[in-house]
Amino acid sequence: MVLVDMRNISKVYQLGSTQVEALRNVDLQIQTQEFVAIWGPSGSGKTSLLNLIGLIDAPTTGEIYLANERVDLLDDDELARRRNHKIGFVFQNFNLVPVLDALENIMLPLQIRGMRYSQAKDKALSRLREVGLEDHWNKRPDKMSGGQRQRVAIARALVGDPALVIADEPTANLDSGNSRMIIDLMRELNQRDHVTFIFSTHDPRLLDQVERRIRLEDGRISGME
Ligand SMILES: Nc1ncnc2c1ncn2[C@@H]1O[C@H](COP(=O)(O)OP(=O)(O)OP(=O)(O)O)[C@@H](O)[C@H]1O
Ligand SMILES: [Mg+2]
Repeated sequence: MVLVDMRNISKVYQLGSTQVEALRNVDLQIQTQEFVAIWGPSGSGKTSLLNLIGLIDAPTTGEIYLANERVDLLDDDELARRRNHKIGFVFQNFNLVPVLDALENIMLPLQIRGMRYSQAKDKALSRLREVGLEDHWNKRPDKMSGGQRQRVAIARALVGDPALVIADEPTANLDSGNSRMIIDLMRELNQRDHVTFIFSTHDPRLLDQVERRIRLEDGRISGME
């Protein structure tokens, strides 16, 4: 089944009086359960593309379908609901909430949904166990290593059982041991739970693991292999 369908997408940023064409005529389909990498030079449009797929930003022209639903015309409330229910995000800089501990960070997407505290806590604890951090449940992000923070971020991305996880350079700030751990974890979750992963990366170790690589250059898809 096609999960993401982008049709003739362009993204133009207005910077004062100049326009930056970040994406040009992009057509892209991603199937359910894929583990796919977006790669290409800095400035080629990787983050712009992921932000569109993740409903964080809207395209300038073109159409985007998520699970056969057209999403580029939805209003902000509907977009927020789709993001909360269907999509998990992992960022290069982890983006955890500094004043919340590991467990509270993971519970957050469920609380935004209005889930009962005890149920949200149970689900978050089971995700925390899955990423091997149950002993660190009450640590705040500044007391955790980069690898631990990214594992918390992955647990948070998955806690709401999304169909799709989007990760923007998830290993860029990690050493090789932690990168390996994060890659193996994402791969395992993809294969075991059939979660679709779409991520951008420069990391050759991550590029080695993927089924499909989409290369961007100057905002255009310049290769798929
Ligand atoms: N908010 C913005 N306003 C103006 N221009 C932007 C904005 N975001 C990105 N750009 C520009 O759009 C182009 C694509 O940027 P993007 O961040 O998508 O590339 P990237 O492939 O993710 O790069 P990197 O590997 O450095 O993360 C670049 O020229 C960038 O400067
Ligand atoms: Mg980027």
